[in-house]
Amino acid sequence: MATPSCLRLPGNVYCGEGALARTETIVRGYKKAALFTDKGIERAGLLEYPLAYMKKSGIETIILDELPSEPTFIQAQQIIDTFKASGADVIVGIGGGSVLDMAKLSSIAASEDYGVKELLENPLLGRKKADTLLIPTTAGTGSEATPNSIVAVPEKELKVGIVNPEMTADYVILDGIMIKNLPLPIAASTGIDAMAHAVECYTSNKANLVSNLFAGEALKLIFDNIEEACTNPDAMAAKNRMLLAAFYAGAAITSSGTTAVHALSYPLGGKYHIAHGISNAILLMPVMRFNADACQEELAQIYDMTAPGVAGISTADKANVVLRRMEEIIHHLKIPVSLAPFHVDEREIDGLVKAGMQVTRLLSNNKKTVTPEDARRIYQEIIVDRRTGND
Ligand SMILES: NC(=O)c1ccc[n+]([C@@H]2O[C@H](COP(=O)([O-])OP(=O)(O)OC[C@H]3O[C@@H](n4cnc5c(N)ncnc54)[C@H](O)[C@@H]3O)[C@@H](O)[C@H]2O)c1
Ligand SMILES: [Zn+2]
Repeated sequence: MATPSCLRLPGNVYCGEGALARTETIVRGYKKAALFTDKGIERAGLLEYPLAYMKKSGIETIILDELPSEPTFIQAQQIIDTFKASGADVIVGIGGGSVLDMAKLSSIAASEDYGVKELLENPLLGRKKADTLLIPTTAGTGSEATPNSIVAVPEKELKVGIVNPEMTADYVILDGIMIKNLPLPIAASTGIDAMAHAVECYTSNKANLVSNLFAGEALKLIFDNIEEACTNPDAMAAKNRMLLAAFYAGAAITSSGTTAVHALSYPLGGKYHIAHGISNAILLMPVMRFNADACQEELAQIYDMTAPGVAGISTADKANVVLRRMEEIIHHLKIPVSLAPFHVDEREIDGLVKAGMQVTRLLSNNKKTVTPEDARRIYQEIIVDRRTGND
């Protein structure tokens, strides 16, 4: 707890219903905007609102609307090259983590001196070249709060995080209207991703008083709101709280760090292209149960912050209540709990263990040491659905 920590947050964060109107005044200070988004966001009709405000401001705008989900570093470089040629001085990112990560990466990579390949080797080479306004449409990765950008590196069969404080957003808008009609499978998996960020940060070796404040509040908001926000299109208060929770969980990442759930999930995204939220949701309970004895005190603290107090309950019981609540959420939201739907062969486990053990940046945050044998047992546990025996 006494370890020095650093918290670096976006310059201005506007949140709540109607916050989107701020877009107009924010972009007015710039010459040309590049709007980053993807076809799913466009099809959902989500560009309409922010574009109307941008039009009102009179700013010239170029739209990059073909961003891929969970891009490789080569796809990321293509996006950056298009952005570089646009001459825009502000990036407006409207989307889930994939779009926001590309907005942030482009803001530091639009240079003649280095590209994404060089940033993968030395992330701190990057210097901010354009300001960013990030508007998340999932709740979510918390990418709008972090200085991280994740790209897939196919030859390593991994997803790799580029971390550089220069990527911290200048402006963030959290407005529930952007997630009003988010389809249940995306709302659920991205919401569980936020829950994983918060519980991993709270139980991380890097946890500190500042990150715990954000991670604890995120968990409270998620436990109270996730089911309603995901399943009821009219639950605007719950949706706004989930956007805030995802942002808080992202803020916790900037000061603490995720652990073995995210470390072991990277090969599932890198090799099998399983969406980030789903792979984390599948791994969350097996890893947290593996970690439980080393994190009992922290899980009990989460109980004290999130559950109505019951006198005389032991630390072990408090920790169990928190684990059961997370399991219940995963069950209610009907997220896959194993790799069965993705047809991962048991013989592939060796490769998964090898790739997962390379994610030392996050494994070193895990309170309990994860050996290759532990990683193997965890992958083995998720390969088939133990509840049904499906493989
Ligand atoms: N930088 C960070 O700190 C950080 C943290 C966690 C995850 N990530 C990265 O974020 C990416 C995943 O982001 P994600 O989980 O938000 O998903 P995503 O951005 O990949 O989006 C998934 C799909 O959902 C659609 N979608 C998004 N919002 C929608 C809406 N409101 N209505 C309808 N459709 C919508 C998109 O069009 C897309 O097809 C991964 O690459 C992951 O590695 C980054
Ligand atoms: Zn995540």
